[in-house]
Parts: sequence; structure tokens; C-alpha cells
Amino acid sequence: MNSQPPLRPDLVNTDDADVVYTQTKTVNLDQALLENNRILAFNKARKESALFDLLRTQILQKMEENNWKSIAVVSPSPECGKTFISINLAISIAQQPNKSALLVDFDLRRPKVATYLGLKETYSLNDYFSGKKQFNDILINPGIPKLVVAATNKSVLKSSELLSTDKARQFIREARDRYESRILVVDLPPILAVDDPLVVLPQIDCVLLVIGSGVNSRKEILEAKRKLANFNLIGVVLNKADTEDQGYYYY
Ligand SMILES: Nc1ncnc2c1ncn2[C@@H]1O[C@H](COP(=O)(O)OP(=O)(O)OP(=O)(O)O)[C@@H](O)[C@H]1O
Ligand SMILES: [Mg+2]
Repeated sequence: MNSQPPLRPDLVNTDDADVVYTQTKTVNLDQALLENNRILAFNKARKESALFDLLRTQILQKMEENNWKSIAVVSPSPECGKTFISINLAISIAQQPNKSALLVDFDLRRPKVATYLGLKETYSLNDYFSGKKQFNDILINPGIPKLVVAATNKSVLKSSELLSTDKARQFIREARDRYESRILVVDLPPILAVDDPLVVLPQIDCVLLVIGSGVNSRKEILEAKRKLANFNLIGVVLNKADTEDQGYYYY
């Protein structure tokens, strides 16, 4: 049985003057699964999608002012909603004219991007790190125009060591520099739990801190901000707030 989705020429970059075609695998996603996993930013009928568009526009404005092209998503502790925010933000960015997004799952300890999107039987960063596949081979277009995903299928034991290698650095360089209009969104593990984010953040232009409402104490939030003091903190999102209308705050 052929476990790989078919290859087909696919538009992955829509710079006005520079339309580039490349061989990116396209996988069509299951809408019901996406809804279940709160991946809603592509669906304009959902009010959550407007919240993500607001977050996206605020973030893109600051990134453009500073000529930043890559953003990492971290939180103090687990389960604050980093992956949820990373995926929806990347989708919302991809919907912006003249922008494309590459979402990278660099949470090698608890990789969830593939699970939330329902990506199955695709090549992933595991194959890139093992040397089995090259950069281009593992990129997936999940049926959303101008969005490309580099997923991680299996958790990795020595993740921070792996993220310190030239191979990891090379991946970020390629991901960031290949297309002028591309915004790189990097999902990372929690900053108070492990050193992986500190390994990756020096190579990323700015960082978004996701706070879990009712998850993080004030002490944890301050400690996380202290750890991020040497990086460009672009904003803080309060996620999982109690009332529906206050789903996500950005400041
Ligand atoms: N705003 C929200 N409202 C309700 N549930 C949410 C919200 N954000 C995230 N969740 C849910 O909380 C759980 C954890 O979210 P997610 O996996 O995005 O967190 P994470 O910070 O990436 O966790 P980890 O540290 O394990 O990587 C998921 O089940 C997700 O659907
Ligand atoms: Mg996660």
C-alpha cells in the first residue's frame, strides 16, 4: 500500500511578483476533526476566526515594523494552548494577501501539530533529523492555500541536543530565508519545564507568550517573562479565559 499522499505541483508562495511552484505534498484535512481540535481560523463563519485574525494583524504589524519573519510560541507550563494558537495563527497568516506561513513543530517532546491537523503517514521532521529526507521532502500543504507544515510525528528523547545541531539550525535558516513573504511560526515546549526553547529562540526573531488562564500562577508568568528577557517578546496571549467572549487576549 502506498502510504504517502500523491505528489503534485503546488503553489506555495504568492509573492505578487514572484510566483514559485514547488513539489509540496498536499493532504486534505477532515473538517470535523479540525473543529473537534479547535482548529477554526480557516472558517470565517466561526467567531473565533475573527479573534485569530485580530491577533494575526497585530502580530504582523509589529513583525513588519521590525522586519521580523519568524515567531516562536511558548508558554510557562504545559497545556496552555501553544499548539492551538500556533496552528490557528499560521492559518490566519496564510489567509492574508501577500503572506504565506510555514508552521514548524519544534515541540519534539510532545509534538501535536500532526495530531491536531489529522496528518497521517506523511514524512516529518523525524525523517529530516534522521537524514532520511531533505527539507523539501517533509513539507506538507494541508489543503489550506499558502500554508505549509513541517510536522513531527514521534517524540524525540534527546530533543534539546537535537535542536542544538547544525541540522536543526539549517532547517530554520532554510525555512526562514527561502521566501520573502513567508512567516515562520514555531511551536515550542513550555519554557519553565525544559531547555528546548532556549536553544531555539536565539534563531527566531520574536516570541509570543501564551498564558493559560487558570493554568499559570503569577509567579510562573513572571518567571517565564524573566526567561524571555533576552528575546523579543512580541506579545502575551491570555488563553482559555472563562467567558466565551474573552477567549484570547493579546497585549
Ligand atoms: N482557548 C481554549 N479554550 C478551550 N480549550 C482550549 C483552548 N486552548 C487550548 N485548549 C485545549 O487545551 C488542550 C491543550 O492545548 P494545546 O495542546 O494547544 O496546549 P499546549 O500548550 O500546546 O500543550 P503542550 O504543553 O502539551 O504542548 C487541548 O485539548 C486544546 O484543545
Ligand atoms: Mg503543544
